[in-house]
Formats: sequence, structure tokens, C-alpha cells
Amino acid sequence: MRFTLPRDIYHGNGAIDELKSFKGKKAMVCVGGSSMKKFGFLDRVVENLKTAGMQVQLFEGIEPDPSVETVMKGAKAMTEFGPDWIVAIGGGSPIDAAKAMWIKYEHPECTFEDMCKVFGIPELRHKAHFCAISSTSGTATEVTAFSIITDYAKGIKYPIADFQITPDVAIVDPELAQTMPKKLVAHTGMDAMTHAIEAYVSTANSEFTDPLALHAIEMVKEYLIPSYNGDTEARNKMHDAQCLAGMAFSNALLGIVHSMAHKTGAIFADYGAHIIHGAANAMYLPKVIAFNAKDPVALKRYAKIADFINLGGKDDQEKVQNLIAMLRGMNDELSIPHCIKNYGKDSYPCEQGFVPESVFLERLPEIAKNAILDACTGSNPRQPSQKEMEDLLKCCYYDTEVDF
Ligand SMILES: NC(=O)c1ccc[n+]([C@@H]2O[C@H](COP(=O)([O-])OP(=O)(O)OC[C@H]3O[C@@H](n4cnc5c(N)ncnc54)[C@H](O)[C@@H]3O)[C@@H](O)[C@H]2O)c1
Ligand SMILES: [Zn+2]
Repeated sequence: MRFTLPRDIYHGNGAIDELKSFKGKKAMVCVGGSSMKKFGFLDRVVENLKTAGMQVQLFEGIEPDPSVETVMKGAKAMTEFGPDWIVAIGGGSPIDAAKAMWIKYEHPECTFEDMCKVFGIPELRHKAHFCAISSTSGTATEVTAFSIITDYAKGIKYPIADFQITPDVAIVDPELAQTMPKKLVAHTGMDAMTHAIEAYVSTANSEFTDPLALHAIEMVKEYLIPSYNGDTEARNKMHDAQCLAGMAFSNALLGIVHSMAHKTGAIFADYGAHIIHGAANAMYLPKVIAFNAKDPVALKRYAKIADFINLGGKDDQEKVQNLIAMLRGMNDELSIPHCIKNYGKDSYPCEQGFVPESVFLERLPEIAKNAILDACTGSNPRQPSQKEMEDLLKCCYYDTEVDF
């Protein structure tokens, strides 16, 4: 087994200024649409790198849920500029895109298909090192071995997974997270909760990942709702909590909540919206816990989580029910719906969401098949059959009880 993290994690207010001490010649800064520019963080990154004596070039405009095309464009820009540092700043989207660009920059012969072979990335760092600066409190991609790229022709998200793409340096500066709008706080926060819980019950869990996962769960439970309601200190704590969850899941892997989120996120885009990653996780997590808890080892682990955060319960079954009730209560406080049927265009709960029942049922067999094939399914404590995955997804559509 292996446990890998970035060589350095700079954290706390002002950590972004550590860039001044970097050593190198040329830095390519990868960034999304506009938020980092608008709030002045992009300028600060560029100034800091120039202070470090580096020549700086920007690759701007990386879209949310980045595409294969964007990755190829960015890699081309890197090849032309020749950076020895890649610095990605923003949410999960620009950082993930930059990780995939880095692979292509180092190995131009590597196709997107090659990148998707789990733990099959050739050796990096012959041309550049990688620094990630996260501005959302959820994906923890600044410390993980993952990058999620969307193939829009297929409407499917593909996880690239290899410790080669674990960044060399992570900057976890909570100042960047203060500008997040409420909805983003809610979604990314529940993404972090899902990472920690899935890592804790994953079949690849270890003594090294357990403490990180448990502490992250405790922190998200305590700080997510106050952070959502505008508490600055709680927002700071959430930035650390999501990073701890990332350290856990990067080494313990995830489970089928993520498999299902990856395969439902973009598949209904022709009906007007995406199911945002964190919201999908928040809706599916309570259902998957009920399903996985039929496995005796997973049942014990969920009960341990419930004990750790003092949820009470006279036996393991009741403890798991309390954990499920707590998570559903958090969804209510964060205005996240409980099921796809009630997932409105703006991601808020509504009577009739944007995914019609007939469309869901028609696409269900294909979605279930793809979810089973997702890279996150292998480490789930219970391996679902095609029928079980379809039934589970139905529970996630109608918000019905999981009794199988
Ligand atoms: N690599 C991993 O380990 C991993 C894990 C989970 C999810 N993901 C992927 O990450 C992506 C989602 O990333 P995300 O949730 O961080 O969101 P994101 O990067 O897609 O950003 C969402 C929006 O928020 C804005 N934004 C970002 N930071 C902001 C800030 N501080 N203030 C104001 N606005 C801000 C962005 O401009 C963008 O419009 C998905 O593609 C998901 O599949 C990756
Ligand atoms: Zn996630």
C-alpha cells in the first residue's frame, strides 16, 4: 500500500505569498473564468511569481467541468511556453484541467484514453513541477491524485487517477474561500463530507487515512452550516477540513456515491442543466449508506463514525439511521434537495425538477451500467449488481427507502 501527499502544504491566511520563495524560471498560471481575477488573487499570484524572478504566462478561461478539448489546448500553450512550474489557481475545475495538461505537456504522445487508465500515467516532473491553490472548499484536488475531465460527446466524466499527478505543492489559503457564494459553499462542503465518509468505509482504508477522514467528518459537521451562514472563522475551518478529507480519499479512494455522481452529472444536460457534483453527492450519500450498511464491515464503520461525532443510538443499526438523518438534516439547512425528481434548474429543491421521470427511466440502464464501470466502484464496500444499481438510482430519483 502507498500513502502519498504533496511535499509541502502551506496553509493559513496569507499562504499564497509563499509563492515568492519558489525557485524556477518560467511559470504557467492556469485559471478559470473570472472570479480569481475579480477578487485580485490572480494578480497576487502573478506578482509573487515575478518577485521570485520568474517569467509568467497565463492560461485563462478554463470552464467548470473542463473538457478534453480545453486540456489539449492548454497542453499546446505549455509546449510553446516551456514552463518549469505549473501553478493552477481556482476551484476543482481549473486545477483538474491543469493536471491533465501537465501529463500531455510532459508526454505529448499520451492520448486522453491513455490518461484514463487507472494508475497508468508515465513519470512526470521531467519538465515541470506543479503547485495547486484551491479557492473552493470541497474537491481537495490540491492534494489528490485525481483529475476529473468531462467527455462532452459522451456526456460522461472520467477520473484520471495516479499519484504522479499529486501536486508537489498545495496552497490552502482560506482567504480565497471567503468570496465563495453560498450555493458553492453548500455544494463543495457536502462534496468534502462525502469524500471523508466514502474514504472511511472504502475497502482501501488504512490506519493512515482513518484519522484524517474522521477528523474531517467532525469538522464538516461542526463548521459547514455556520460557514454557509456567513461565519468567517467557520469558512476558514472548512478550507482545512476539505483538505484533510482529500488527504484521506486520495489514499483510501472513494465509493459508489461518486460513481453515480460522475455518471449522472452531465447526462441530462440536454434537458437544461447539470446536476452539480456536490449536490449529486449530497442527495445520493444517505441512500448509499443505507445500501452499504447491509455489509457487516461497512455497518460497523458507519456506526463508528456516528459514535465519533456523538450521534447516539442503542445499536449499530440505529447509529447508521442517526447518521443518515443528520446528513439529510444538513441538506435541508443547505437548501439541497433530497432527490433528482426535486432537483430544480437552479439546484434548489422544487416540486418538479429538470429531469423528467420518463427520461430518467429511459436512460437508467445505461447510467447504472456506466456507474458500475466507474473507477470509484472498485473500492466500495458492497459491489452492486446491475439491478441493485438501477434500484439504488431509482431511490435517488424518487427519494424512496433503500430496503435491499
Ligand atoms: N480532482 C479531484 O480529486 C476532484 C474531487 C471532487 C470533484 N472534482 C471535480 O471538480 C469540479 C468541481 O470543482 P469545484 O466544486 O471546486 O468548482 P469549480 O472549479 O467548477 O467552480 C465552480 C464556480 O465557482 C467559481 N468560484 C471558484 N472559486 C470561487 C471563489 N473563491 N469565489 C467565488 N467564485 C468562485 C468558479 O469561477 C466557477 O464558476 C468537478 O468537475 C468535479 O467533478 C475533482
Ligand atoms: Zn467529489
